[in-house]
Amino acid sequence: MPAPVVGAIRVGIIGAGLIGQVHSRMLRLIADRTGQSVRVVSVADVVPSAAQALASRWQDARAVASADDIINDSSIDAVWICTPTALHREVCIAVARAGKHIFCEKPLAMTAQHAAEMAAAIDAAGVLSQVGLVMRFSPVYTVIKSMLADPRVGRMLAVTMRDDQDFPTRGVHASPWRNDPSLTAGGTLIEHSVHDLDLLRWMFGPIVSVSCVTRNLNGADGVEDFGAIELEFAGGFHGQLTSIWHRMIGRPSNRRLEVFAENLFVASDFDTLGPIVFQRGDRADLETIAPDEVMARFRDIILRERPYLAPMKDNFAIPYALEDASFVAVLKGVCTPDPPFAAGVAVQAIVESAYESARTRRAIRIDN
Ligand SMILES: NC(=O)c1ccc[n+]([C@@H]2O[C@H](COP(=O)([O-])OP(=O)(O)OC[C@H]3O[C@@H](n4cnc5c(N)ncnc54)[C@H](O)[C@@H]3O)[C@@H](O)[C@H]2O)c1
Repeated sequence: MPAPVVGAIRVGIIGAGLIGQVHSRMLRLIADRTGQSVRVVSVADVVPSAAQALASRWQDARAVASADDIINDSSIDAVWICTPTALHREVCIAVARAGKHIFCEKPLAMTAQHAAEMAAAIDAAGVLSQVGLVMRFSPVYTVIKSMLADPRVGRMLAVTMRDDQDFPTRGVHASPWRNDPSLTAGGTLIEHSVHDLDLLRWMFGPIVSVSCVTRNLNGADGVEDFGAIELEFAGGFHGQLTSIWHRMIGRPSNRRLEVFAENLFVASDFDTLGPIVFQRGDRADLETIAPDEVMARFRDIILRERPYLAPMKDNFAIPYALEDASFVAVLKGVCTPDPPFAAGVAVQAIVESAYESARTRRAIRIDN
């Protein structure tokens, strides 16, 4: 393992758009709660006003025009890669070779092969890394996962998930590159449901086969706005994921998850705080876990499993704060990366298999 970063971690952010701004806000929260253990010192964006606006939120941070200005800055310890997806690989490999630690947004790359090349560069350089699969820090799914760990629920039977979002070229996601096939790795399955597939692997174990259909209404080749995947899990049960980019700008991004085990039905219509509804095998009624109780249970789980996140206890409802605080703890030598970069490589390969299935109209086996 590389040596922990000594003193305040000096961060460069490459890409000052939506998610770059989110990470900057999260790093500010973390700094304020951990004795200024981290600070953003440089922000790169090809749009100077975007770099300037983000840099101005940090004392003495530089706004620079090119990723190279961060890659070549020997004072920087770690880089958050927040550019459109097509740029991740080149930037990530250069950052790794420059010996800097890497937080890279999802999806990691345009293809699974490119993602694997990034992982190889990180291994060769011996730097620390984490991928932005933030749904693993969702209170509601963490609590449902813990409910399913109780042996009394019996064997898993079925999982159904729906993920929907306004087509992310306007509103909060005003990213013009999202329907440019040269800049995006695809549509709703890779750019959004990569989160869901990672979540499903994390909650239910390895996926061994996918069978997929996609549909494209927006006209941009290779940018599907509908994808449905039939999933086979190594545990012998099946699931379905439906992923939609719609045209309802007033509707916030959201997910529904519904799980049947032999002795438990559990579901939630809200992907962060719940409520969760569930029914036990011996009960005639549905029970509800209200958002406050979801948070109380989540707090207990997090403090038990990731005690190093205790300083963030007032921000446990913000998954981005917890993923960034986790990587800050990694850089300080307190824990190992979780989710690791390899999870981003693995889930990219699964989505790629789903696309292959949609093209060939047959089920594709997944190597695990
Ligand atoms: N984890 C999540 O929940 C989440 C949410 C949104 C986006 N993302 C991912 O984050 C990445 C960025 O998405 P976004 O929504 O922030 O996009 P965005 O369009 O809002 O921001 C991208 C920024 O990168 C800048 N940029 C473009 N080329 C650049 C270059 N060569 N060097 C430096 N900056 C450059 C753009 O000017 C823009 O400011 C994508 O990979 C996306 O999939 C993840």
